Amino acid sequence: MVNNITLIPGDGIGPEVIESTVKVIEATGVDIRWEIVETGNNAIKAKGTSLPECVIDSIKKNKIALKGPITTPVGRGFRSVNVKLRQNLNLFANVRPIKSFDGVSSLHEGVDFVIVRENTEDLYAGIEHMVGEDAAESIKIITRKASERICRYAFELARKQNRKKVTLVHKANIMKLSDGLFLECGRKCAEEYRDIEFEDIIVDAMSMKLVQSPQEYEVIVAPNLYGDILSDLSAGLIGGLGLAPGANIGEDIAVFEPVHGSALDIQGKNIANPTSAILSGIMMLKHIGEFNAAEKIEKALGETLKEENNRTIELGGNLGTKEFTLEIINHMK
Ligand code: NAI
Repeated sequence: MVNNITLIPGDGIGPEVIESTVKVIEATGVDIRWEIVETGNNAIKAKGTSLPECVIDSIKKNKIALKGPITTPVGRGFRSVNVKLRQNLNLFANVRPIKSFDGVSSLHEGVDFVIVRENTEDLYAGIEHMVGEDAAESIKIITRKASERICRYAFELARKQNRKKVTLVHKANIMKLSDGLFLECGRKCAEEYRDIEFEDIIVDAMSMKLVQSPQEYEVIVAPNLYGDILSDLSAGLIGGLGLAPGANIGEDIAVFEPVHGSALDIQGKNIANPTSAILSGIMMLKHIGEFNAAEKIEKALGETLKEENNRTIELGGNLGTKEFTLEIINHMK
């Protein structure tokens, strides 16, 4: 069966890592028809908006998208296309697995947990305004509906993946109402999942614990901002942003993308590590039921990364993005 999938190359290193991912997926023989659409600066040039309607329409029609990172101007310019996409398509769960790779040297070994980040509200709701000229307010939105939904998703994921513990991250000692509500929803949800251990921890303590003993964690559920920050921290534990995939999941739509950004500092140099994007592609293949193709890539990628010389430069190897991609494809033969 042919799978129609929306493909968003994105900005910076996006087109490079997405091209690698498409090549690796196509080498499995799986039948995919890619519908390529542009966002961000490229879309502004062509269509006058960073997120054209045709992008939303394509994803709504195909239900599945593979996406590269999109640059968001800092402190000015258009609002984050990523945030708009997640809100517009109601992609409420951002799922980010963090898993050590055999042989890749990193701060920790044996790490294997999943971050489940609430994806539609919190400080990312983008509700902010100036108060006079010398003060600004950003409003943090936490609702019972979104909090219960993400906590339930985290417990369901734990059950499905045979994970034994859910850790909820918050700062309810200070933000007693907003984070307090998130924690209340988590505690209530935990009562329905007695087979899964539940604990909660404040985000500052969690940052230290993750650096010291990340092997203690299995599923971490957090509001948007803490989930975002802890994702990058966690990628750092296993070897960096080049190794961390992600999925934005809604009721019937899913958009898969690496955790990292557009990395403009290494754009066009053929040195970006496409592993995060390829791992996101593997998550996508599993989501659409193409398990054989997913396992084939997973095995080849793992074997490629085991060989020191076969890695990309930031992992101590000497392969470029394109050469590393070919090496994975060679391992699949
Ligand atoms: P970044 O994640 O793009 O880069 C941080 C550092 O990690 C840089 O030194 C970069 O070279 C390195 N890096 C990232 N991915 C890598 C890879 N695959 N291989 C090797 N090295 C890699 O974060 P930064 O620089 O803060 O953000 C750049 C832009 O990306 C910003 O406009 C930001 O808003 C956007 N962004 C977009 C995301 C998305 O579309 N989902 C997510 C995060 C950031």
